[in-house]
Amino acid sequence: MFKDKKVVFSGVQPSGSLTIGNYLGAIKNFNAFSEEYHCLYCVVNEHAITVRQNPAELRKRTYETLALYMACGLDPEKNTLFVQSHVPAHAELGWILDCYTMFGELSRMTQFKDKSAKNADNINAGLFTYPTLMAADILLYQTEMVPVGVDQKQHLELARDIAERFNGIYGDTFVVPEGYIPPATAKIMSLAEPTKKMSKSDENENAVVRILDPRDAIIRKFKRAVTDSGNEIRRGEGKDGIENLMSIYGAFSGKTMEEIETEFAGMGYGDFKLAVGETCADALAPVQAEFDRLMKDKAYLETVMKNGADQANYMASRTMSKVRRKIGFVEIK
Ligand code: TYM
Repeated sequence: MFKDKKVVFSGVQPSGSLTIGNYLGAIKNFNAFSEEYHCLYCVVNEHAITVRQNPAELRKRTYETLALYMACGLDPEKNTLFVQSHVPAHAELGWILDCYTMFGELSRMTQFKDKSAKNADNINAGLFTYPTLMAADILLYQTEMVPVGVDQKQHLELARDIAERFNGIYGDTFVVPEGYIPPATAKIMSLAEPTKKMSKSDENENAVVRILDPRDAIIRKFKRAVTDSGNEIRRGEGKDGIENLMSIYGAFSGKTMEEIETEFAGMGYGDFKLAVGETCADALAPVQAEFDRLMKDKAYLETVMKNGADQANYMASRTMSKVRRKIGFVEIK
C-alpha cells in the first residue's frame, strides 16, 4: 500500500479540545497528501506531558484526537494513524538527538519562552527539549514533507538543522524535511485578541472555536469576536480581527479575499459575523456527526491504533538500526 512512496508526517497534541486553528492550519490539509505520499499522522501524547495533564483527560483526548483525524476524512487504510507512546523509538531517538542539539539552539525557541512564561511553576526539562523530540518524530520516518501551521516553523527549521548536522558527521542518515505551511490559514487568530494565535489551551472560551463546539456556541463566539471600530469588510491596517474572520470564512467557503470583499460590500459587521458563524458551523456539522459515531466504538479505535503502531514501529526500527550502527551502539540479535 505504501511501498516506495515519499513520506509525510505530522502530529497534534491531545492537550485540549482541538480548535478551528488546528483544523484549518493542519488537519484539513492532511488529506491532500494521502494519495501521493505515505502519510503518518500521530497523536503526540509524549509532547502533551510537557505541561501537567490530568491522566484520565489525557487518555480520553488521545481517543478523541484519533477519532477527529478520521472524522476529518483521514482513512486509516490510506494513512498510518497512531499514538506516539506506542512507538518507543520516538523517545529513544529523541534522547540521541538531544546529544546533537545545542543548549543555545533550544534557548532560542520562541515557543519555549512563551510556554515557560505561562507555566512558570513547571519549567521542566521536557519543555526545553520538546523540539528535539519533535525532530525525532519527523526524522524517524525519513519524512520529506511536514504540513503544519506557521507556529511550528521554527521547530521544523531546527529539525532540518539537526538532520544536516547528523548527516554531516555520519554520512547520509536522515532525509532533510520540508515544511508545508498553508498560504491562507497558517495562523488563525484568537477571536478575543486578534493579534494572538488561537490556542486550544486559551483560558478564555470566547477566544477559541473548537471543532466540536455546538452550532449555537460557534455562532455566538463569532458574533462576539473582537473587531475594529470601523464598518467595512476588507483587509488593511488595524483590521486584524476582520481579516482573521475573512480567512476563516474563505477557508470554509472556498472564496477568495476579493470575492468576500465584494460579497459583503455595504454590509455591516453583524451580518458578516453571522455568515462566518453559520458557514463554519455548517462545515463542521458532518465532522462532528462522524466523530460521535466513531467515539461510540472504542474497540475500532483501538484496532486503528494497533495497526498504526505496527506500521510505524516497523518503519521506525529501520531508521533506528541505521542510527545505532552509525553512532557506535552495539546491536545484539
Ligand atoms: P499543536 O498540537 O499545538 O497543533 C497541531 C497543529 O495545528 C497547528 N495550529 C494552527 N494552525 C493555524 N492557526 C492556529 N491558530 C493554530 N494552532 C495550531 C499547528 O501548527 C500544528 O500543525 N509541536 C506540535 C505537534 C508535533 C508535530 C510533530 C507536528 C509534535 N511532533 C512533528 C509536526 C511534526 C504542536 O504542538 O502542535
